[in-house]
Amino acid sequence: MNKKIKRILDKKNKSKIICLTAYSKNIAAILDKHCDLILVGDSLGSVLYDFKSTKEVSLDTMINHSKSVRFGVKRSLMVVDMPYNTYRNNKEALRNAKLVMKKTKCDAVKLEGGKKIISIVRTLIKNKIPVMGHLGILPQTEKKFFFKGKKIFEINKLLKDSKLLEKAGIFSIVLECVETKLAKKITEQLKIPTIGIGSSAYCDGQVLVTDDLIGLGKSKFRFVKKYANINQIINSAVKKYKVEVLKKKFPKSKHSFVTR
Ligand code: KIV
Repeated sequence: MNKKIKRILDKKNKSKIICLTAYSKNIAAILDKHCDLILVGDSLGSVLYDFKSTKEVSLDTMINHSKSVRFGVKRSLMVVDMPYNTYRNNKEALRNAKLVMKKTKCDAVKLEGGKKIISIVRTLIKNKIPVMGHLGILPQTEKKFFFKGKKIFEINKLLKDSKLLEKAGIFSIVLECVETKLAKKITEQLKIPTIGIGSSAYCDGQVLVTDDLIGLGKSKFRFVKKYANINQIINSAVKKYKVEVLKKKFPKSKHSFVTR
């Protein structure tokens, strides 16, 4: 088993698992010092490209961003989201997941869904491609982003799907916006770690979109906590630059080239 995956599995019931998203090298290199897992999420569709949904994200876009992230990630486990419509059947999923693994040198791929994709998950794992699951809100196929676990059928489905995915061999699972008691129950019933986003502190680990955490984007989701205001820092640096260029204070001779 991949040593980095084993490290994640070993944390269950011992220490919380720290995960964040990255879409490029420089941010990935900073996160790599602190995270157990770095996800190249297809959330980049809305965060970077202003897409209305992650449905519009292509495999090429995921591969290109992941290649950049790979340069920054040395010690964390690197997981890449398989985008929408790239895993509709076993053959398509295997071809595309192999391509992602080969081109990006990532450690694993993440797929959204439960019972519906179980045969695909099995196929990838049989072919030695580590898979991370994703249940709860599934942004690739759902239009309305309500939390999951209010209705009995939802509770039963999530409990069943998480068990099925574990049995199929996934090494961990993201729970997106799953009601607190249900997230706790799923976490307790699984041997693999759960990684929550909007799914309470009962999960074995947490993930956030890094742009939200550092205050770069304008996300207003209830589950986001803004730990910094990078927007303000960039604004103030750019303002100072503008003033110095206008007043001819930048560049100085030390920033320029002169022949004697
Ligand atoms: O696409 C993404 O960034 C994700 C996380 C929010 C879990 O799937």
